[in-house]
Amino acid sequence: MLDDADLLALLLSRRPGTSLARPFYVSPEAHDADLRHIWTKEWIFAASAAEMPKAGSYVTLQIGAYPIVIVRGADGAIRAFHNSCRHRGSRICSEAKGTSPKLVCPYHQWTYELDGRLLWARDMGPDFEPTKHGLKPIHATVTAGMVFICLAEVAPDASALKAAADRYAAPHRLDELKVAHQSTIVEQANWKLVLENNRECYHCAGSHPALCRTFNDDPDLVGSDDSLSSPQGAAHVARCEAAGLPSRYVIAPNEQWRLVRIPFVGDAVSYTMDGRAAVAGGIPGMPFANAGSLLFFHYPNTWNHFLSDHVLNFRVLPIDAQRTQVTTTWLVHRDAVEGRDYDLNRLTEVWVATNDEDRRIVEENQVGINSPAYEPGPYSPKQESGVLQFVDWYARTLQGSITGRKLVLAAE
Ligand code: FES
Ligand SMILES: [Fe+2]
Repeated sequence: MLDDADLLALLLSRRPGTSLARPFYVSPEAHDADLRHIWTKEWIFAASAAEMPKAGSYVTLQIGAYPIVIVRGADGAIRAFHNSCRHRGSRICSEAKGTSPKLVCPYHQWTYELDGRLLWARDMGPDFEPTKHGLKPIHATVTAGMVFICLAEVAPDASALKAAADRYAAPHRLDELKVAHQSTIVEQANWKLVLENNRECYHCAGSHPALCRTFNDDPDLVGSDDSLSSPQGAAHVARCEAAGLPSRYVIAPNEQWRLVRIPFVGDAVSYTMDGRAAVAGGIPGMPFANAGSLLFFHYPNTWNHFLSDHVLNFRVLPIDAQRTQVTTTWLVHRDAVEGRDYDLNRLTEVWVATNDEDRRIVEENQVGINSPAYEPGPYSPKQESGVLQFVDWYARTLQGSITGRKLVLAAE
């Protein structure tokens, strides 16, 4: 049995520049520590706001032992609640998503307003106080059209994240987008392997024939560094910034999130097999089609691409130590009509294929790490700086939470 002290000792003995020790990827105790110290303390990307287009639209998700419901109220605000009835605790909404004028518990029909207030409970006697039995709220904030939630009693300050992400994403008009498609897959691997795989393109040329037609795998563009070290990246940023698109690389002081706009390969303008736009007309107001992709990651669970014609949100949720759910949401402008302005297969085929290729990669990674012969290996300084940056964030955050002492970077 591993406890937090054992995990701390493993973190402190980690060789710099290498992958994590085996227990972090395989052990249920380490996974439990991840839930306690990271998933229930940090801001987590829960849903695209466009998934809840009207009052009563809701989305549910599960983080560790916590069932959660996110719902748009009659006032248009998006709120998150513990999806557990204040009567005897039944889960209230069991579907992944839906629309309902009120939230009604299926057990004894206690009925809640969309803002969480208890509206109705039958035969509870004269002393019963409905106001004391509203749904328990969870911190929620919407930035860049994405709903982030935090299960902690006191949520970390998200103001800098919100200011930056809203500013960078504004030209993509997130309030005017709708869901064109969503896919959810389960990967037989620890959630950190899913994130690590996303943070490098060392594997791209060998694994992603469709993606590599348009996505630039130059490590100077997609690594942990400022994209300006790539002349092509610098030219793209200058051109986009001059046209009013916030594009310059920006990273949080604690390196939990980053925004940067990078160019596609050659003349490509979108993630399609031929590189041409996937959605006719694109997102209104974008100054030109070849704006590349605005990349936005936020640890521990999301990476995103904002294009001139559509937006992609990726959500990673842990199921257990060796299973992870990955949901991809394709957003297009609300006026775009399927069959007329876009073909769904053409819009989605590159990332559907890429997700499946990545699933196989991380599953093989997990099988190899399950071997007692596994030992942490060195990252490529050129190709895997982004992985190291994620793993270092993880190790710092876990260590800080276990010890109760926040670890800061030199620049903070
Ligand atoms: S548990 Fe919800 S109404 Fe009884
Ligand atoms: Fe990949």
